[in-house]
Order: sequence, then structure tokens, then C-alpha cells
Amino acid sequence: MAFSCTRVGPENHSRFGNRNSGKEEGVSASLKPLGLGFIGSGRIAQAHLQAAKNLSDRVRVVAIAGRRRDRAESVARQHGIPAVLSDYRQLLRSPDVDAVVITTPNDSHAAIACDAAKAGKHILVEKPMALDTPSAESMVRAAEDGGVTLMVAQSRRFSDAVREMVRRLPEIGEVFRVHIVFCVPFAQPPTDWWRSSAQAGGLVVLLQGSHSLDSVFWWLGRPPARVFATGARTNPAWEGEDEADIVCTYDGGVVATVHLSLSTAPPIHEALVVGRQGQFRLVERPAGPPFENLYRLEKNGEVLMDGLQTPSLYTHQLREFGEAVAEGRTPEASGREILSVMRMLDAARASMRDGQPVAV
Ligand SMILES: NC(=O)c1ccc[n+]([C@@H]2O[C@H](COP(=O)([O-])OP(=O)(O)OC[C@H]3O[C@@H](n4cnc5c(N)ncnc54)[C@H](OP(=O)(O)O)[C@@H]3O)[C@@H](O)[C@H]2O)c1
Repeated sequence: MAFSCTRVGPENHSRFGNRNSGKEEGVSASLKPLGLGFIGSGRIAQAHLQAAKNLSDRVRVVAIAGRRRDRAESVARQHGIPAVLSDYRQLLRSPDVDAVVITTPNDSHAAIACDAAKAGKHILVEKPMALDTPSAESMVRAAEDGGVTLMVAQSRRFSDAVREMVRRLPEIGEVFRVHIVFCVPFAQPPTDWWRSSAQAGGLVVLLQGSHSLDSVFWWLGRPPARVFATGARTNPAWEGEDEADIVCTYDGGVVATVHLSLSTAPPIHEALVVGRQGQFRLVERPAGPPFENLYRLEKNGEVLMDGLQTPSLYTHQLREFGEAVAEGRTPEASGREILSVMRMLDAARASMRDGQPVAV
């Protein structure tokens, strides 16, 4: 089924329901693919573009904007995108663009998303949602005022293995421990903005912690009461921290720990979820091509799933975004939901700075 989508402009936002008003005014009868405008043409854009290709009966990439025109043109040629623009504001004026996929550096998400909301475009924005909670709140307000969907690309919510684990969490009783290790090897930054603490918002806490703290929040069903974190910079190639340990404590003795690293070889990405009546272990391994992963899910040592995630996380994620837009409903990992994760990230960075636990 194609997404049932109409042209979105200030004149017809309400076709998708305005989340402020709580009104859902139904979905258009016309079956037209969702017109996507890509803002950013770098590494992660490739994963989203491949996802769009996988969903070509439902979405159409109609334009791409990047600062370096040659790079955006080359990506446009590779993916058959008809319009290339040097300024994302031009893309926001295009009537063919119903929704934007924002794949730019961390420090630009909030401003671009607010501009997109004002232009009446639905928004899928890369994680971390923003550099801090106040910026993220401004994005939620702009989206709600504009009556547009705002979803954060918390891609790791979309593997079949993690969804199976979450579906089966009740089998292990009350969860009282989550332990996540997310370590990757980067001798050099894969892209320039990683060098700048201001652009990245520190480094590993926002880059990887935005995935891991979202998992903690999602699996335990609530934010922690307090966060304590330590971090270190071990590589002069960047200004921010490349090692961090985060401890999230909940009332009642529930604890989640997260170890993050950009300087650990070989990579290791695992989660242990411990309940009163059993445990799940989730292992993610790189599959070879960038942003493709293998997953293994175990319950009490028994292997439940093991293999390549296909279609990609980004395909499932884009499908959820398109369906939420078409149905006028709140998407998974909505901007409002991810505000809780932003508060956890802010608490972690404040704790790292001050050496004290921080209330969330
Ligand atoms: N979900 C995941 O697992 C995952 C993985 C990787 C990255 N990410 C997130 O994705 C985002 C991008 O990361 P990346 O590694 O793809 O970075 P990247 O390779 O450096 O790509 C960033 C792109 O944004 C463009 N850009 C920067 N400022 C812009 C602006 N004002 N207007 C239009 N385009 C602009 C750059 O254009 P030029 O090429 O012209 O400079 C470049 O094309 C980050 O927020 C990152 O955290 C998520």
C-alpha cells in the first residue's frame, strides 16, 4: 500500500491532523508517494536514500540540498534525484517536498527542523535530536505549531531483533538491570565536524549515547531519577570525549550502565537486559557495508535470532515515518518522546563536567 499523502503546505497541514489540537482529520484519498527532500548528502544520507529506494512505491526523493554542490550533485546522480539545491531553504520552498530528512551535523538539526516546520514540511531528523534539551523543545514547539510530524531517527529501535526482545520483555519479569557496551574504533574522524566539540556537542555521548540512552529509556519505560557519568578524551584528533561511562539510577534499585567508546578495536556492541525471571542478550555486529548490521538475540543463553538485518533499520524507520505522516498519528520516537532522552544526555554531560550525579 502506498502512503496516502497530499501536498503539504501552509494551506493544508490539517490534512494530517494537528497534534496541538488533538484533531485527526483523516487521510487524503489520493495515493501519491510522499515527496522527500534530503538535507545533507553525507555518510548517513546514503543509508536513508537506500531505504527510500526500498520503499519506492511509497516515497519519492524529489530534491537534495547540501552545502558542497558537487557532492550533492554526485549523490543526486547516483540516486536519480531530480533537483539539487545549495541552500536547504530553497528546498523548503519546493511544493514537491512533503517531508524532509535532515542528515546534517548535530549542531544544525534544531535550526533546520524549526525552519522546516515553519514551511509546513514533516520532519525526520537524525539523532541526536539537538545539542541540548532547550533546542529540542524549540523543535517540538515548532512542529506542533506547524501541525507537522516530527520523528527522530533513533534507528536502533528498528532492528527485528530489538523489536522481538521488546515484545518479549514481559517474559523476564521486572527488568532491574540494563548493561550496554557500545565501542567502535575510529583512529581519525570519518567527517570533519567530529573534530569540533561545538558542532558535535562534545563527542561520544551525543553520537553513540543518543542510541544507548534511548534504549535505556525505551526498555525500562521511563527516564532514570539520576545520572552519573565520567568521560575522557584519549585521541587528539578531536576536541570532545571519545570514552564515556554513564550510570542511570532509578528509585527501587534499578540501574542501567552504558559504556561508550570511539577508540576500541575490534568493535563491540552488546546489551544485557536482566529481569527477575530471566535475561536477554542482544549483540550487534557490522555486516560489511556501512550501516548494515548483523544481530543476535539470546534469551537465557538460547539463541532466538541470528543474522543480517534485512531490510535495513533505515527502511523500517522510513516506513514508520511515512505511515505516521499518512495516518496523522504520532510516530515512534516522536520529537516529544525523545525530549526525555535529551534530558538524560544533558544530565550525563553535566555530570561529566561537574563530577556529581545529576537529577533528571
Ligand atoms: N543513525 C545512525 O546510526 C547515525 C550514523 C551516522 C550519523 N548519524 C547522524 O547523522 C548526522 C550526519 O552525520 P554524517 O556522519 O552523515 O555526517 P557527514 O557525512 O559529514 O554529512 C553531513 C552532511 O550535512 C551537510 N550539511 C552540513 N551543514 C549543512 C547545512 N547547513 N545545510 C545543508 N547541508 C548541510 C554536509 O554538506 P557538505 O558535504 O556540503 O559539507 C554533508 O553532506 C549526524 O547528526 C549524526 O549524528 C546517525
